[in-house]
This record gives sequence, structure tokens and C-alpha cells, in this order.
Amino acid sequence: MLSGVQPSGDVHLGNYLGAFRNWVADQHEHDAYYCIVDLHALTLDHDPSRLRERTLDMTRWLLAAGLDPRVCTIFVQSHLPEHTELSWILECTATYGELRRMTQFKDKSGGQESVRVGLFTYPVLMAADILLYDADRVPVGDDQRQHLELARNVAQRFNARYGDTFVVPDAAIPRVAARVMDLQAPERKMSKTTGTDAGLVYLADEPAAIERKIRRAVTDPGTDVVFDPENKPGVSNLLAILSAATNEDPTALAARYTQYGPLKADTAAAVVEMLRPVQDRYREVCADPSFVESVLAEGAARAGKVAAETVARARRAVGLLEPLR
Ligand code: TYM
Repeated sequence: MLSGVQPSGDVHLGNYLGAFRNWVADQHEHDAYYCIVDLHALTLDHDPSRLRERTLDMTRWLLAAGLDPRVCTIFVQSHLPEHTELSWILECTATYGELRRMTQFKDKSGGQESVRVGLFTYPVLMAADILLYDADRVPVGDDQRQHLELARNVAQRFNARYGDTFVVPDAAIPRVAARVMDLQAPERKMSKTTGTDAGLVYLADEPAAIERKIRRAVTDPGTDVVFDPENKPGVSNLLAILSAATNEDPTALAARYTQYGPLKADTAAAVVEMLRPVQDRYREVCADPSFVESVLAEGAARAGKVAAETVARARRAVGLLEPLR
């Protein structure tokens, strides 16, 4: 199993519910790899002086969320050159047409005067991340569905053309909270790139801030509480968050409320409770920088062994001459 996250700094509730929480559950049942994808962070404007720190900070949050480096492998993408090497080989398998159809590319490139080539080929690097570890299970939020489909297509095409080389991956998308929406604009997903502070709950937010943001969340016309993401996106988003935090069915939860106020109060309280242990662990991990560094060093060593074998297989399959000694 493999999944990845960009070191974008502030981790939000979407990352936690759509991905991290499931990673924590999965780590005990699978041979699990978690990658902090710093190379992907270069595809949009970024601040070089902060990227290093953000990469370390994302590692801290993953540990705080409950990833246990004794049972899973946590590593930084740029530490293993195999990711970019396989990415090139896969770029010669993926097509311009299929990359052009990626909705994330269209969204992120729209309105930009100059678009980096890396933003265009981003999903191919992501496919390399996945295929390097023979991952058959890739736990992600709903927004990564199309990228996973591309990784599957590229793996199948490569295998058909050059012989069985890669495991064809499957997306594992959570049943609830696969797409946590912005609290201020519930028709779009919670995201740092498009959202405002008031629309996002950060894992680092104090309880008072979490309560305020959820209390001020935009709801829908009318007053009835029903789980209907299409017609009632605001209230359904709150129900999905509450459902994820309490493990109760969103429709069953909706039946208990007749007004938005109590739903908001309960959702805020559940989120505060859910994040409290994560925030406590985050503080502990921050106090131990050498632990974080050793996790990444060991992670790179473990991941590197698997990655090297897969790249060697792919190189042979496409007919590259072995390095001569
Ligand atoms: P990224 O860094 O944007 O997000 C990390 C994970 O969080 C999920 N997520 C959400 N889930 C529910 N609701 C939301 N509002 C929300 N926002 C984010 C994402 O679906 C993701 O699972 N391209 C990937 C990183 C990546 C990757 C990979 C993932 C690179 N290589 C290989 C899996 C396998 C990305 O930018 O995720």
C-alpha cells in the first residue's frame, strides 16, 4: 500500500478525514508506505526557504496522526531518485491526450499566465510513486480518483507493451468524508489553494478557533437537517464531518436534529475531541527533532530497497542497457 501528501504546511480536516485517518487504520493490515511528495510541491509557486521546514512539519503531523514508524515506512519523495527516474519512463507511456483531460490540471492551470510542465506531468510522477512500491491499494480522498485511474491505465499499458512489470493499483476511497467541503463555500472542496482561513479547519487550530469556524459555517436555505450533499451541501458537509468523527451514519445523525445550531455545536465538539490526541502528540513530536529525522532516514533506506528493484525491472523491460562496470 502507498499513499502520499504534499508538504503544503498547514494540514486541514480534509487531509485528516479523507486520508490520514485511514492510513493509520491501514498500516497494521498492509505493508504500508507513506510518501511526503516534496517534488510535487514544486509544480506551483512555492517558497524555497520554507519547503524544507514544511517537509519536516508534515512528517510530524503524520506521526501525530498516529502513523507508527515501527510498522510502516514514512519517507520523503526527493530522497529517492527512483521516483523521477521511473517518472520519465512512464512519461514515455502516458499520452498528452490523457494528461490534458486531468481536471486538477485544468483547475490549477486555469488563469495562470505561465504553466509549468511539471504541473502537466504531475500525475505521471504520482503514478511512479505508486508503481514503485507494487501498491495494489492506494488510500486517497475523492479528489485523487482521476489520478489513480491514470496510474492504472499507465500500468496496464506498460505491462501490455513490455511484459508484466507493475502491479495495477486500486484507489481506496473512504465511505464518508471522502470530500470534505470548504466551510465557507460548501460547493468546493476544503483546500488550501482555493480556500480562506475561515473555510478550513486546520489540525493545529485551537478548540476555540474550531468552534468559531464551525459555528460560522455556511448552511443552506431552509432549516431542516437532511443529508443531501447535492441540494444541501453545507449541512451535509457538517453531517459528514460529524459522521466521520463519531462513526455514525450521516442520515441517522440528521434525524436527530431539527435545527442547525445544535448540529454545529455537536460537530465542533466532536472535531475538538477527535483532534485533541493528535494535537497532544504533535507537541510531543515537535519536542523530539532527532526522532523525526531518524524516521525519515530509516524510511528512505527501507523504501529505497523496494524502489531500486522496481526501477531495475522497468529499465530491463523497456530495453535500457545495464550500467557497465
Ligand atoms: P494532497 O497533498 O492534496 O492531499 C493529501 C490527501 O488528502 C486528501 N484530501 C482530501 N480528502 C477529503 N477532502 C478534502 N477536502 C481533501 N483534500 C485533500 C487527498 O485526496 C489526499 O489523499 N497528488 C496527491 C499527492 C500524491 C499521492 C501520490 C497520493 C502524490 N503521489 C501517490 C497517493 C499516491 C495530492 O496532492 O494530495
